[in-house]
Amino acid sequence: MSGNRAVAYKGPGLVDVVDIDYPTFELKDGPGVNPANVGRKVPHGVILKTVTTNICGSDQHMVRGRTTAPTGLILGHEITGEIVEVGSDVEFVAVGDIVSVPFNIACGRCRNCKEGKTGICLNVNPDRPGSAYGYVDMGGWVGGQAEYVLVPYADWNVLKFPDRDQALDKILDLTMLSDIFPTGFHGAVTAGVGVGSTVYVAGAGPVGLAVAVSAQLLGAAVVVVGDLNESRLAQARSFGCETINVGAGSVPDQLAQLLGVPEVDAAVDAVGFEARSQGHGANAAEAPATVLNSLMEITAAGGAIGIPGLYVTGDPGAADEASKVGTLSLGLGTGWAKSLSFTTGQCPVMKYNRQLMMAILHDKVAIAKAVNATAISLDDAPRGYAEFDAGAATKYVLNPNGYVSV
Ligand SMILES: NC(=O)c1ccc[n+]([C@@H]2O[C@H](COP(=O)([O-])OP(=O)(O)OC[C@H]3O[C@@H](n4cnc5c(N)ncnc54)[C@H](O)[C@@H]3O)[C@@H](O)[C@H]2O)c1
Ligand SMILES: [Zn+2]
Ligand SMILES: [Zn+2]
Repeated sequence: MSGNRAVAYKGPGLVDVVDIDYPTFELKDGPGVNPANVGRKVPHGVILKTVTTNICGSDQHMVRGRTTAPTGLILGHEITGEIVEVGSDVEFVAVGDIVSVPFNIACGRCRNCKEGKTGICLNVNPDRPGSAYGYVDMGGWVGGQAEYVLVPYADWNVLKFPDRDQALDKILDLTMLSDIFPTGFHGAVTAGVGVGSTVYVAGAGPVGLAVAVSAQLLGAAVVVVGDLNESRLAQARSFGCETINVGAGSVPDQLAQLLGVPEVDAAVDAVGFEARSQGHGANAAEAPATVLNSLMEITAAGGAIGIPGLYVTGDPGAADEASKVGTLSLGLGTGWAKSLSFTTGQCPVMKYNRQLMMAILHDKVAIAKAVNATAISLDDAPRGYAEFDAGAATKYVLNPNGYVSV
């Protein structure tokens, strides 16, 4: 049965909107679905009519051909929706609820979930701990850049918004709760940001901007954002950040000009493995370890580095053999000598999404404005992907069912 439309990965640089099956309470075979997950029953799931679903830098790694994602994979892990069907084992959410879905799929029953480590759930992905909708090597759960999507373990996974009208009113902010706002907040928290901290954020994409907003919310004295993209740096300045263009000179020197010292208390990598070399202009070549090495250099001894930026175990597009299997040339001695701490991995969204929802609902933070959230139709997804890839200072929010008034 058809009855659903979704964004599919069609090969390097290509996405398309295609017809797919309307979801049922069973995981079916399809591109990227792990054989051990085919036929898996999902009575604990709900079917959502998608309210919003955002395009993410994590999707871009796949769409640029920089992962082993199979052609035909249905994309989309940043999902907000209205429940239209509930499985027979669902108790606490109901048809009509509008909910945010953490991008991590988690069972709520395994050892890691019980400890709040929902980014590395043991029961949802036969390949490895950790899972997400519409993502390579993540178990094959169908992506949510679609009109309808299945969400498993729904009582555990979804965050219900208290009021429908209020939720739709603030939807461009609330849609960031599925990933980038908790991810940015996690980056800042794990870097040890608190009242009076000086903070450096590498990357002014949506995640970097979400880190910056989060650092401000946590009371940072100054937040410096670095990138090579001038329009994204202007976006960071629009809500009170200092900025440095990492293509224009060394990061420590530029920090010293701003702060009087070439270091910060806390640093966050919101770039990941497609990092560009620093100090070599706007079109510098890739240097996958450059951000990690520079953060070790500029973080004060005893400090911490948050690493939401993604690092992979397989990168067919890497420039050298080591990077193709995710091996980077790290100056770990510097980090060790300074007793630095590191936090990597998927953000455990559930740890933060309720509190950040409250901050949004009570106007304590303006995340949509900070990341320049812009709603577009499902049919416009290929344009959104292309513009985002070209470096637009925009977080694209797909609006497949017309819930967002534009
Ligand atoms: N850990 C998680 O749970 C999680 C969640 C969401 C996204 N991510 C990852 O976070 C990263 C950022 O996501 P995004 O959506 O903002 O992506 P993005 O691609 O839009 O942003 C990355 C930015 O980094 C900039 N950049 C490149 N080299 C740089 C350098 N040397 N110094 C400073 N900036 C540099 C680019 O110009 C770009 O603006 C991605 O790797 C994404 O996969 C991780
Ligand atoms: Zn994302
Ligand atoms: Zn689990």
